[in-house]
Amino acid sequence: MATLQLNNIVKNFGSTQVIKGVDLEVKDREFVVFVGPSGCGKSTLMRMIAGLESTTSGDIFIDGERINDVGPADRRLAMVFQSYALYPHMTVEDNMGFNLRLAKVPKAERREKVLAAARILQLEELLDRKPRALSGGQRQRVAIGRAIVRNPSIFLFDEPLSNLDAALRVQMRIELARLHEELDATMIYVTHDQIEAMTMADKIVVLQGGVVEQIGSPMALYHHPANRFVAGFIGSPKMNFLDVEIRGADAEGVDVVLPGGDCRVPVKGDGVSTGDKLTLGVRPEHLKIDDQGPLTGKILVIERLGGTTSLYLENGDSQWILVADGDVTSRVHDQIRFSFDPACAHLFKRNGEALLHRHCHPLVASESK
Ligand SMILES: Nc1ncnc2c1ncn2[C@@H]1O[C@H](COP(=O)(O)OP(=O)(O)O)[C@@H](O)[C@H]1O
Ligand SMILES: [Mg+2]
Repeated sequence: MATLQLNNIVKNFGSTQVIKGVDLEVKDREFVVFVGPSGCGKSTLMRMIAGLESTTSGDIFIDGERINDVGPADRRLAMVFQSYALYPHMTVEDNMGFNLRLAKVPKAERREKVLAAARILQLEELLDRKPRALSGGQRQRVAIGRAIVRNPSIFLFDEPLSNLDAALRVQMRIELARLHEELDATMIYVTHDQIEAMTMADKIVVLQGGVVEQIGSPMALYHHPANRFVAGFIGSPKMNFLDVEIRGADAEGVDVVLPGGDCRVPVKGDGVSTGDKLTLGVRPEHLKIDDQGPLTGKILVIERLGGTTSLYLENGDSQWILVADGDVTSRVHDQIRFSFDPACAHLFKRNGEALLHRHCHPLVASESK
């Protein structure tokens, strides 16, 4: 059992505030991912949880106990970093058992714990090797093993896969998800990579400039981003944005002026007036080639990925990405018309805040049961 709670956490470095009042609840056995651009404060927040960085103000609770003044060694946490920092002269077994040796755990018990972790991580064959005889992925597994043997109540991972090549990252992602299942542990994972966040998290915390922009399940953030930042950050390729004028609005929807005809987006239009300027957001996978569509663009670039094909379109100063079928026959320089299902579109106010969808997406609604 391990829950974590952050209450209005603030961190100042000198006169610069880098964490600006973060509230968060992490449930027992939850896999929570902090995601955001480089420099947004992810590592600082993680280090404060670990006790490696003091907290300027606010409270941190583990299992309901306030731990602000508890030292890092006594927080029952284990942290895995991007640089795995193994001892080069020690074998895998000694690296994994090093902290236990420091804690004066008897040799037999140490070996038992290391073997158990090695089994989970498929490192049994490699226990006698030195780090230099391991691949990057194997080294990272040893670093994770070092955390597992300590039997922490919460695992903290800070961009642990960033040094690995793309194929290995995908494999380690799957292994970490499996590890989470197997260990039944609470895990907090930091990454700047929204795909890692989407694929691994039970709950994503999107940070920007030391502020939480939104907290929710991957599909909740995908279908109901709270603001333009989250909308643009989550999802790949990125959401398309277009400045639009409003023809009219009521509680049931907002009528948007588009070059080839108006469309009604089913969001709550309270407070929106005719003539207002909003930003329309449509994901590339929600655009489709359509000879009757209200939008047009010229194809600049075509990226064929096999299963899907991305079309990069331009119309005046607006740019669009449209994800089409893999076998789409369009060609560069073609002028095409396209459309979207208004139920999949988003509208953002000038301050970036999203207008709420009239109906919660069914998948997201069922999540909250
Ligand atoms: N020890 C420090 N002293 C001063 N500024 C720091 C220190 N550590 C981090 N920062 C600043 O705090 C901000 C957040 O950093 P960090 O938490 O490392 O971001 P992230 O992990 O999201 O990339 C950055 O602007 C960084 O320069
Ligand atoms: Mg960092």
